[in-house]
Amino acid sequence: MKIINSIVHMQALAIAPERGERRIAFVPTMGFLHEGHASLLREGRKRGDVLVLSIFVNPIQFGKNEDLDSYPRDMDRDFQLAEACGVDIVFIPTVAEMYPDGFQTGVTVRDISLPLCGASRPGHFDGVATVVTKLFNIVRPDVALFGCKDFQQLAVIRRMTADLNMPVEIVGMPIVREADGLAMSSRNAYLSPSERQSALSLFRAIKRARELFASGEHSIAVLEKETCAVIEQESTAAIDYVEFRDGATLHKLEVADGNTLLALAVKIGQTRLIDNTVLGEEL
Ligand code: PAF
Repeated sequence: MKIINSIVHMQALAIAPERGERRIAFVPTMGFLHEGHASLLREGRKRGDVLVLSIFVNPIQFGKNEDLDSYPRDMDRDFQLAEACGVDIVFIPTVAEMYPDGFQTGVTVRDISLPLCGASRPGHFDGVATVVTKLFNIVRPDVALFGCKDFQQLAVIRRMTADLNMPVEIVGMPIVREADGLAMSSRNAYLSPSERQSALSLFRAIKRARELFASGEHSIAVLEKETCAVIEQESTAAIDYVEFRDGATLHKLEVADGNTLLALAVKIGQTRLIDNTVLGEEL
């Protein structure tokens, strides 16, 4: 496994004639890898001849009062997991090289970036779209893999690659959960044992919404009220949003169908967690 820090070096490998017909599969991450990332890497291993993992905590997708400085990091553990998943190249650029003095370009994906996390974290998806564009230009992947836990992020990236004719296939991979249902996330590391218990309210809320929908309740007003009620039972949980939206456009709805997305963002103590489900899809 090769570790590359320089943009020029990574790009040179990606565009070298020796690459020939070899397909590059790419998994961009911010590190502190877990089983969710491992599932992306294993699928990437199957889809590409060369598997590239990037680790870059991207400052421009964090808001002023967010957790950029405390974002969990553990390079040694990340390298072990990467090796075990068959990664060929780990690309770890520096902030100084990614955003040198004078940097002033951004990528905005308009409507789909606005609701949900876009409303709670203004500018977040501009930061994501910009860094993913840069990473695609550096790594030149044929296929890139993202987790469905960040449902809106995946929608933004799909829209961006289609709108800008980027020659890369985007693959969304199912949410990976702990045995008790908690969606895997690097931010779970912030949770104390009691917060870890409270965090299960997100999955309980998802299950409640799915049960109601399966039993014929399609009114979004009712589904929203019942879903929120599950989370409100937890004293340490503060709802940022609980919303049912069209799974393709992210538009608001009044009546749910199988393509309806339930997206949640909930603060457990100081930790903001997100989760989601599409009502007609398997959990
Ligand atoms: O999902 C993430 O880890 C990040 O948002 C991404 C896609 C690597 C961009 O920084």
